[in-house]
Amino acid sequence: MTNPELSVSGGNIGQLDVDTVLCWVPEGSARLSGHAAAVDRATDGALAVMIRDGLITGRSGETTVLHGGKLRAKRVVVAGAGKAEAFDAHAERRNAGNAARTLRGLNAGRVAWSTQSYATGTVDPAVAAAARAEGVLMGLYRFDKHHTREADRPRGAVTSVTFVEASARAATAATRGVAQGVAMAEATNFARDLANEPANLMTPTIMATHAQEMAAREGLECTIIERAEAERLGMGSYLSVANGSHQPPKFIVLRYRGRGAQSAPIALIGKGITFDTGGTSIKPAAGMERMKGDMSGAASVLGAMMAIARLKPSASVIGVAPCTENMPGGGATKPGDVVYAMDGQSIEVINTDAEGRLVLADGVAYAKQQGATPLIDVATLTGAINVALGKVRYGVHTNNDALMADLERASALSGEKLWRMPMDKEYEDQIKSDVADVKNTGGAPAGSITGAKLIEKFAGDTPWAHLDIAGVMDVERDRGEWVKGMSGQPVRTLVHLVLNRSK
Ligand code: BES
Ligand code: ZN
Ligand code: ZN
Repeated sequence: MTNPELSVSGGNIGQLDVDTVLCWVPEGSARLSGHAAAVDRATDGALAVMIRDGLITGRSGETTVLHGGKLRAKRVVVAGAGKAEAFDAHAERRNAGNAARTLRGLNAGRVAWSTQSYATGTVDPAVAAAARAEGVLMGLYRFDKHHTREADRPRGAVTSVTFVEASARAATAATRGVAQGVAMAEATNFARDLANEPANLMTPTIMATHAQEMAAREGLECTIIERAEAERLGMGSYLSVANGSHQPPKFIVLRYRGRGAQSAPIALIGKGITFDTGGTSIKPAAGMERMKGDMSGAASVLGAMMAIARLKPSASVIGVAPCTENMPGGGATKPGDVVYAMDGQSIEVINTDAEGRLVLADGVAYAKQQGATPLIDVATLTGAINVALGKVRYGVHTNNDALMADLERASALSGEKLWRMPMDKEYEDQIKSDVADVKNTGGAPAGSITGAKLIEKFAGDTPWAHLDIAGVMDVERDRGEWVKGMSGQPVRTLVHLVLNRSK
């Protein structure tokens, strides 16, 4: 997939040398203004007549194709913007994603895209521009590299998009917004590419290579901790998950050094199970292929680090991605085994399928040992979070109210919805072990919380949050900026969090 070239112009929409003009009509408005009025004049009033006759309603998702008339473009696409009252940056992003896919289906080529949607003035032009760019690039995302037949790939192309603003001043603000939106969307699509790739083509070794290539390209430091080094560091919890696999484990560390005074980096730590069979406690066959996405947390950390490298916040950030397969080979961990994490705490492995918390124990302990704060881990940790929150919101488990507030602010900007889960001390009773400091399962009740409780032991008193994304890791159908397949959540929330803490 090649992304369209995005640019911003403050010029006259009718004069641009493009193939298609996209303009927006709000729901329930009788009077046309700005770009829509210009399109109406160029089409001898066709637009106004179609609205009057109820053929164009402005409902969100509606698209109507007209001949370009006196415009330089041969074709005009009129898109419904929805109700002006309901309009915000999230509606802008959603509408942009849907419109971009419609334009691709029409083989729209070079597009002049009116930004004078509706409710002009209610959203900051830079914020609206960022959301629009995210919608276009995320909405056009496809993972089709393994279709060898051309016919199985989407036909049609959007080769360039010029966002046409009403004035030169708005265009300046929008240019800034588009740059941020492009960084966010490309980072999300990078995370999606890693997570969508089947597990035979996205082993820990291949993940490490992608991390190194990305780091070299974007100017980050990258270190891969190999098995021998992990043994020396005492990462027995993480390594115990790799015991049943022929693939060598790779513990990825990325560093971004901001120019800020605060020296302690923010840590982003992602679960990187490139395939989760369950290990000795093997999973049922039905649906197991979904477990190629069990490295989505690691993918979102790599994606976030890529955007951070481009947007250059003042805060420093360390990205940690402990990667391994979870396989039932001859050397695999057995239920009842006791393993030791790098900070010396022992864990009784009751169920080898609760492996995410085992790799994160060492991931979080490592980041803490590096002096990082806060510690934010991202993981497809439990089926239980999907039972609790479904595919709408991911769960946040944290020991710190201020960090929760930061995450909520970041989520309000990204539109990636979250929900705080309770973390009462009493839940810890469920993971008390008879033979070790803690055991890795706590039974079915409150399954996402007991998982979080284990990880919390390795964060100690350091501000920490655990994002359980098992429900939202993938998407079932195309809608707005979301495309069927792995979602790339919560890359943009992580990046906004880092940007906000840099202000
Ligand atoms: N990777 C799974 C969780 C998961 C399930 C992610 C569905 C995405 C979609 C995780 O490693 C796992 O198997 N968790 C177990 C924990 C249990 C054994 C305590 C679960 O949720 O059943
Ligand atoms: Zn598992
Ligand atoms: Zn897993």
